Amino acid sequence: MSSKMLVTTALPYANGDIHIGHILEHIQADIWCRFHRMQGIDCRFFCADDTHGTPIMVSAQAQNITPEQLIAKSYDNHYRDLTGFLVEYDNYYTTNSEENKQLIYEIYEALKNKNHIETKTIQQAYCEHDKMFLPDRFVKGTCPKCGAKEQFGDACEVCSHTYSTAELKDSYCTLCKNPPTQKQSEHLFFKLGDFQDFLKAWVKDHTQSEISNKLNEWLDQDLKSWDISRDKPYFGFEIPGYKEKYFYVWVDAPVGYMASTLNWCNKNDQNFADWWKNKDTKIYHFIGKDIVYFHTLFWPAMLEASGFNTPEKVFVHGFVKVNGEKMSKSKGTFINAKTFLNHLSPEYLRYYYASKLSLNVDDLDLNLNDFMSRVNSELVGKITNLASRGAQMLGKRLDGIVVPLKSKEAKELVQMAQSKSEIIAKAYTDLNFHKALTEIRTIADEANKYFDQKQPWNLIKEDPESTKEVLSAIINVFRIITIYLKPVLPSYALQVEKLFNDKPYTWDDTKHLLENKKINEYTHLMGRIDKKAIDAMIEEEKSQTKEKPKKTENFIEIDDFLKVDLRVGLVEIVEPVEGADKLLKLIIDLGPMGKKQVFAGIKSNYSEETLKGKLVATVVNLKPRKMKFGVSEAMVLAGSGKKGGPRVLLPDGELKPGDKIK
Ligand code: MSP
Ligand code: ZN
Repeated sequence: MSSKMLVTTALPYANGDIHIGHILEHIQADIWCRFHRMQGIDCRFFCADDTHGTPIMVSAQAQNITPEQLIAKSYDNHYRDLTGFLVEYDNYYTTNSEENKQLIYEIYEALKNKNHIETKTIQQAYCEHDKMFLPDRFVKGTCPKCGAKEQFGDACEVCSHTYSTAELKDSYCTLCKNPPTQKQSEHLFFKLGDFQDFLKAWVKDHTQSEISNKLNEWLDQDLKSWDISRDKPYFGFEIPGYKEKYFYVWVDAPVGYMASTLNWCNKNDQNFADWWKNKDTKIYHFIGKDIVYFHTLFWPAMLEASGFNTPEKVFVHGFVKVNGEKMSKSKGTFINAKTFLNHLSPEYLRYYYASKLSLNVDDLDLNLNDFMSRVNSELVGKITNLASRGAQMLGKRLDGIVVPLKSKEAKELVQMAQSKSEIIAKAYTDLNFHKALTEIRTIADEANKYFDQKQPWNLIKEDPESTKEVLSAIINVFRIITIYLKPVLPSYALQVEKLFNDKPYTWDDTKHLLENKKINEYTHLMGRIDKKAIDAMIEEEKSQTKEKPKKTENFIEIDDFLKVDLRVGLVEIVEPVEGADKLLKLIIDLGPMGKKQVFAGIKSNYSEETLKGKLVATVVNLKPRKMKFGVSEAMVLAGSGKKGGPRVLLPDGELKPGDKIK
């Protein structure tokens, strides 16, 4: 196996926090990558944030920031949380990038030139008030079949009936509650039917059988063309040759896998074609069961048509549940990645997920009691205990030197541990982490049995030499176990490498033993999970949900308000910002405080003529924020009304620029 491997996890949407459900596939993929790297394989791991689409645009509007600002903020949080779980990417990028634009244009050109694109005029829900076409999730109403209220625009969650937004009764726009109209528009479609035969053959070998069986139900019928365009307003890439039409977010999202690779190639002197066009490179996607069609129908067809490698495997996993329930904030079963990390070590979760993961698509239950007892009894009680007992006694009561093994028993114990190398490697390769860990625990069981039989705590009194051998055997088995566990517990393994003065472990390091070597003083490797930490985590999660209920209850303290230095500002200059259709660049005159430059996402509501020369309330002590276009040094307060709607302009007359507003 000298070929390269390229691994990806699904790109998290930029408009939400990372929770422990998301984390599953990142841990799964990370373990797999680390294992292959330990085998000396050039295995690279790419991910990115998924930044386009209506929900992100709407969510930015609601927060009165630009989508660019929103995705910049999420990017930092996402990266912090994911790497907080010791996930090691070669690159974590964004879909809102030049590389991504370039690649989707290239792919689109190829599809168009090969006649795989058609146009059709379709009818869609449209909100006259919000001046936008409404995706199905932004329309609610009464199910036309069973009469259930408050159902989304595509399907009824009560009776599972599917319908179009036009069929929904008493429908309304979820943004403004007004009834939508139906409006026509020309859309571009990718002719998926052209790939029916290709896909039929493809899915069989490139995903789990559970998944391909399901897909075959689809592939036995004629595949419908896929709508790849969206009308303005939309946050995404404009379609070349069309005005005000954009690629649907799911078109450029998977291209983000390539864009992340390309960005890394450019920075690391690598050849992009080696990764996405060379047949010796194998591409693997890890995804959840909810996004299978995108990855196993549209995506391979797009790649096939445009001359790129198609994935070698799409690995699908089930959903994480907490205490047997779907994660839900109201039920207290929702756990943010950040909250987890505030109270518990990431390696606990890595171990627990790994111990449950295999290639089946069943949901995975994070039962918090089971989580605690397994980590405590297995990882701490069985495994770490070997090191703390073995290494401590050798270092504290003896000379700390690991001796060569002479007795048959000691040799056999260590050989048994070494002999598991292949079976454990195969389990990792097959993504059967559950099996790998079961094997590893069996080794630990044998070692503990040996330790208890030999009773080194008694033996040391009469026969220190034999005791050294017993402890040396234990230490060697522990070292081998650590090597086997390194893909799951990278930071733990690093500590063990230090303890034994070893170089970073590779898989084959189980083949030789520690001999005639002084080990370092044992320091604590891993502690038990305290039930209090779990309770505190749940409490923190609950308090967060309580803190942001309805807007009216969201009080701040007077001191918080007094921190804001609010001043009268005179808008001196208003300019458009090239490359950002939502932004205006303002120069605000603050009298004695000088002038400040502000980038404000208010272009849809304000213009030069409505703002220039007017007085506005300005937050002057906001931390300057570096944006793509320059530094924004302050913030102006503006009404979020529509064009011609309310504005926050101050009456002129008594007020002068720089006056404090109290
Ligand atoms: N942005 C898309 C993916 C685009 S890939 C080109 C998306 N984002 S997501 O944030 O909603 O989900 C990201 C991944 O997390 C998906 O694989 C999804 O299945 C997974 N999960 C989301 N919730 C999950 C659980 N509760 N449990 C396990 N995985 C979950 O979909
Ligand atoms: Zn509306």
